[in-house]
Amino acid sequence: MDYLTYKVLHLVGAFFLFSALAGLIIAAKHSDAQARKLGSIMHGLSLVVLLVSGFGLMAKLGIHGIPSWVWIKLVVWLVLGGIVVLIKRWADGRTILWWIIPLIGAIAAYLGVFHPPAG
Ligand code: HEM
Repeated sequence: MDYLTYKVLHLVGAFFLFSALAGLIIAAKHSDAQARKLGSIMHGLSLVVLLVSGFGLMAKLGIHGIPSWVWIKLVVWLVLGGIVVLIKRWADGRTILWWIIPLIGAIAAYLGVFHPPAG
């Protein structure tokens, strides 16, 4: 797969991730089991697509080892993976999470565009 295809895949993975997380917030608010199931599947798939395309991008960019900006993106990936637990359990915080989640995504986007050097 070429570099630009990995990049499109990476962006599509991100679109599905945020669609899934927003859907999971609404599903939790309305106790909608069917929407929660679809959201969970989409969430899992989008995380896999983001990870695979992320490493693909690194390979195509000739990045050897894991620079600090990618380590931070991996932490963002883990946080947006585990945040489903908060969506499920933190009933009073779901609206706050709805705002915070895209902002966490913005960190990954910033790092992916600027590749800031460590220190
Ligand atoms: C929730 C997780 C993530 C989101 C929302 C995200 C989002 C983005 C965005 C928006 C870009 C910029 C694309 C562009 O320049 O057009 C990007 C670039 C990039 N991402 Fe991610 N990313 C995530 C996770 C990851 C992970 C886990 C990895 C590594 C395994 C990764 C590796 C990269 C790389 C290497 C680039 C640079 C591409 C380039 O310079 O052309 N990303 N990411």
